[in-house]
Amino acid sequence: MSSGKRVLLIVGGGIAAYKALELVRLLRKRGISVRAVLTKAGEEFVTPLSLSALTEDKVYTDLFSLTDEAEMGHIQLSRSADLIVVAPATADLLAKMRAGLAGDLASTLLLATDTPVLAAPAMNVRMWTHAATQENVKVLAERGISFIGPDEGDMACGEFGPGRMAEPTAIAEAVAAQLDPAAKPLAGKRAVVTSGPTYEPIDPVRYIANRSSGKQGHAIAAALAAAGAEVTLVTGPTREPDPAGVTVRHIETARQMLAGVEAALPADIAIFAAAVADWRVAEEAPQKLKKNGSREIPALSMTENPDILKTVSGLDGKRPALVIGFAAETENVIPHATEKRARKGCDWIMANDVSPATGTFGGDANTIHLITGDGAEDWPTLTKKEVAVKLAARITEHFTA
Ligand code: C5P
Repeated sequence: MSSGKRVLLIVGGGIAAYKALELVRLLRKRGISVRAVLTKAGEEFVTPLSLSALTEDKVYTDLFSLTDEAEMGHIQLSRSADLIVVAPATADLLAKMRAGLAGDLASTLLLATDTPVLAAPAMNVRMWTHAATQENVKVLAERGISFIGPDEGDMACGEFGPGRMAEPTAIAEAVAAQLDPAAKPLAGKRAVVTSGPTYEPIDPVRYIANRSSGKQGHAIAAALAAAGAEVTLVTGPTREPDPAGVTVRHIETARQMLAGVEAALPADIAIFAAAVADWRVAEEAPQKLKKNGSREIPALSMTENPDILKTVSGLDGKRPALVIGFAAETENVIPHATEKRARKGCDWIMANDVSPATGTFGGDANTIHLITGDGAEDWPTLTKKEVAVKLAARITEHFTA
């Protein structure tokens, strides 16, 4: 399958360069041809041979190579692509781009081109947060360079923070979107997504809630919308901004969430990422509960909340074609999630390990095991945004298979 689209991939010198190999594979899988340029520093991390094998093309490394000039001048090399992708974009490469330096093949190409450029920065946290790099990125963005990442996480240098190169899947998705902005694989599909916690009132001023950040659900709504789906997000209170291009219904209680979901049906896709309270206080006190001297501590009598995932999975007629639930588990993740898939009657379960050591709850990273009717797929540890993009791609695959 060829899309006829061509990418010139510039691989800078950083530990993330190994991910450039996976990026080549993913782009080629999408029918995008890739020609690679490797900087001198990049050669310390990946070999021209491995890049050449994956691109099935010559790899360009040297500005002054006469055979390259004879075969294809560097000006033409830079202009023969629909998009230039710099991955990893090191602090050094970004500084060269900003300053307009042209001392090697990569920087010369970037200066000589009028082709759009997408950069995936990767560097040590302090290098990324340094005023010089931040200023370079700002100026380059103003000049029209697009950026993806960097992500936050553990770094090869042992530090933690922003600086990790975006995952190849996310870069490939960004490349595809940039090459063909009209490509909306989920266009015509309707989706409803739940996100965040629910607040279950005790009295007019108190409530029972949980620590769900809404990051995963919001990212899923955004990724589905970016893929062209018409998305309604039904969310409990979170600090996340409303995703662009999504209809957002703000609710507080589980019952309101269920009503919000039902109002968004019919839909083709339903994804339940919210951390819905299992129980609510049976009778919300109409007035604020008082301490009242020596009176006993009030006992809260609880009652069960509707299970939104189970309810929607069991709908007749209006059941979405693809219903996806989450399973937050702290042990025996896959067996528990497999059992949950059966019990809830949904199609897929996104199972994740939320034992405190993983930092998943409220954090930015997520390690997913996708349970479908065919078994479990183990995903690598990704940011919640990357999980969302990968899920949107997996849903697209499901509907096109
Ligand atoms: O049963 P448990 O809460 O572990 O199931 C988690 C999955 O079920 C999540 O997808 C969650 O959004 C959904 N759920 C729901 N309504 C509830 C409880 C959970 O939709 N009342």
